[in-house]
Amino acid sequence: MDTIHIRGGRRLKGTIPVSGAKNAALPLMTAALLTDEPLTLANMPRLADVRTLSKLLAALGGEVSIDRGEDADVMTVHAKDIRSTTAPYEIVSQIRASFWVLGPLVARCREAKVSLPGGCAIGARPVDLYIKGLQKMGAEIDLVEGYVHAAAPDGLKGAVIRSPVVSVGATHTLMMAATLADGVTVLENAAREPEIGDVANCLVAMGAKIEGIGTSTLRIEGVERLHGATHRVIADRIEAGTYAIAAAMTGGEIVLEGVEGETFGAAISVLRAAGAEVESEQGAVRVARNGERLQATDVVTQVFPGFPTDLQAQFMALMTTADGESEITETIFENRFMHVQELARFGADISLHGDKALVRGVEKLKGAPVMASDLRASAALIIAGLAAEGETIVNRVYHLDRGFERIEAKLGACGADIWREKEKH
Ligand code: EPZ
Repeated sequence: MDTIHIRGGRRLKGTIPVSGAKNAALPLMTAALLTDEPLTLANMPRLADVRTLSKLLAALGGEVSIDRGEDADVMTVHAKDIRSTTAPYEIVSQIRASFWVLGPLVARCREAKVSLPGGCAIGARPVDLYIKGLQKMGAEIDLVEGYVHAAAPDGLKGAVIRSPVVSVGATHTLMMAATLADGVTVLENAAREPEIGDVANCLVAMGAKIEGIGTSTLRIEGVERLHGATHRVIADRIEAGTYAIAAAMTGGEIVLEGVEGETFGAAISVLRAAGAEVESEQGAVRVARNGERLQATDVVTQVFPGFPTDLQAQFMALMTTADGESEITETIFENRFMHVQELARFGADISLHGDKALVRGVEKLKGAPVMASDLRASAALIIAGLAAEGETIVNRVYHLDRGFERIEAKLGACGADIWREKEKH
């Protein structure tokens, strides 16, 4: 397996182009299953998860083609005929978003057989909300040998679905299913992450009728059929937030190009509270820190527009060298603290108390060999390595490649001493 090596201690300075958002690109790809016409997606990030989901779409009968651009790809998915409505374990166990084909398949083909999902091991991650929602829309659901079998022989029917928990994946799935259902579906307590809005806008371009985009109540009036469209994937607010934290950690100055500050406003507020300078311009965000130590700052992860769980690990890395004690509370996933023991290898002082981590800032981190446990945790280890004295080696880099495009190249261009060693065969 590849490893990433970092010699820490350099300030980051420069411009980083932010890629298309993984968590918008993946559901957008599944939306292509709703129509027999081509869906073209611009600003696609080059990520392992995108390649894995492409394989699944191809197995279901979609033709996936890619035009490689200089900075981003343009992908066209043409699901003219759905050859199979079975999403196999081998693929769905690798990435959770592939479970989301459930909604489009049952809506268009009136049946689907989708393996229970995998993805990052950050908690129990159940699928009860997807199942209850589809049942309310008239689907019959059985769980057989690890597969969710959904059948709606007469098609899905509109329904009012109030989710007890805000779920990004259930919102994507039910919203897509509702676009082709008979009648009106109202999703109450829906997730309103910017990626949901992006998918909703693409569905509207495909002919769907959706009201309430950007709010927690989505009203979807089903239509007979959807058509093809061309859509540009929004910028990745989590990638942007990660580099913003890296800039603050190294006392550098970075301009994040192509991202709107309001998509990660909560992270910007917390960075400012900690002492970083953040200025949001149109289509770019500048992050700088003057070299003084940051202030310890508390954070609670919340659904959008709150502080995202997907930046919790990176923020914890930042707090390891802040002045004072910070309390980091994780409210979305119950097991998203696996980076704590790896950060300890750098000399960080962190103790865990249920859903809270107490971080006591130390003066300096020291480079160490570490192991990435999940996607965002890997980014936290890179951030710690950038600031640590000496060399850091990050193992299990495949987690990073799932969600960060060319991270070594982007950081290297800003002066980081970082390189990848390819696995020797
Ligand atoms: C999405 O996961 C993201 N994944 C995650 O990003 C992100 O951390 C998460 O939303 C929260 O923002 C993608 O977009 C591909 P949820 P998802 O359903 O949809 C509970 C990353 O690093 N829940 O919003 O799986 C669940 O257990 C990843 O890019 C139920 O109880 O998350 C959790 O506590 C990791 N029943 C909470 O809801 C259900 O049926 C929120 O999860 C579904 C979810």
